[in-house]
Amino acid sequence: MIVTTDDLFKHAYGNYAVGAYNINNLEQTVGLFRGNLGQSASNDDPVDPALSAPFIIQLSRGARKYSDKRFLEGMIRTAEEVFPKAVFAVHLDHGTEEACYDCIDSGFYSSVMIDASHEPLAENIAITKRVVDRAHEKGIVVEAELGQLGGVEEDVVGSVSLTDPDEAVEFVEKSGCDSLAVAIGTSHGAYKFTGSQGLHFDVLEKIQELLPDGFPLVMHGSSSVPKEWVDRINNAGGAMKNASGVDENQYLPAAKLGVCKVNIDTDGRLVWCAIHRESFRDNPENFDLRPPGELFMAAYARYIAHKNGKLGSAGQLEAVRKSRVK
Ligand code: G3H
Ligand code: 13P
Ligand code: ZN
Repeated sequence: MIVTTDDLFKHAYGNYAVGAYNINNLEQTVGLFRGNLGQSASNDDPVDPALSAPFIIQLSRGARKYSDKRFLEGMIRTAEEVFPKAVFAVHLDHGTEEACYDCIDSGFYSSVMIDASHEPLAENIAITKRVVDRAHEKGIVVEAELGQLGGVEEDVVGSVSLTDPDEAVEFVEKSGCDSLAVAIGTSHGAYKFTGSQGLHFDVLEKIQELLPDGFPLVMHGSSSVPKEWVDRINNAGGAMKNASGVDENQYLPAAKLGVCKVNIDTDGRLVWCAIHRESFRDNPENFDLRPPGELFMAAYARYIAHKNGKLGSAGQLEAVRKSRVK
């Protein structure tokens, strides 16, 4: 069942965060749905209520271009039929104004992100407000971003600039956005920290204190880049040196401070890369795509279930469903 992103945030606020996972292809889609229902080996496994979680599927502009946005929409609609118990929202990740309007007009998306965070404050507000006005006409909610993460996102190479809490208040008030992505020390990709840095909880706390009660915050660049997966990649011929990510044990403390959505893409790529490298290393005669594909779907499903445990969303599915039919 596709729901609005707002419904998910209302249920999660202050208690847990909803995982927002990027997809690009069929195997990621199947693994993601299975993982959020506690099924790993097959689509016919019994659903595990203790592992079942609401989730957000995110589509980046790169993903929409990779195979054609219509394939992604078709896959998600089919997944809804194959996994009737799933409760999820569909979200545009890092949209431009043009991409936001395309998604708003399509009638398929639950929410869009307008990312004008690289613009000066006034321009970011003006662009975001235009998107908000158009989205709200169609009942779609809008995520915006203030501050700059490090790393690379789509075609923008960022330099870190943490979100200023006072500016966040002005931004939310003037733009009318429904949720705000804040820069609190994370960055996109597999190389987030050079030392023992972590999240800036002091900044997050101040932002939550100043914004209206219950206003949902979003954390981008939240992959944990697990050492286990990086080592598996490197042991199977990869060359990922000094990769590092967010400490998974920081997700819940962030959720308590109003973070309702935690964006994870890189971790899924690591699982994909390790499984495929190992599979071809161990079976050099194989040229069939299905054996590694099957291994990947099962491994990704298990990874998602693990992640949802850390986010606190595992086990929340029935409660979310009930909260919507009041
Ligand atoms: O923040 C960006 C996401 O990880 C999406 O990445 O633009 O390469 O699909 P992508
Ligand atoms: P990661 O690169 O940490 O997975 O972040 C993904 C993201 O923020 C997508 O918008
Ligand atoms: Zn992002």
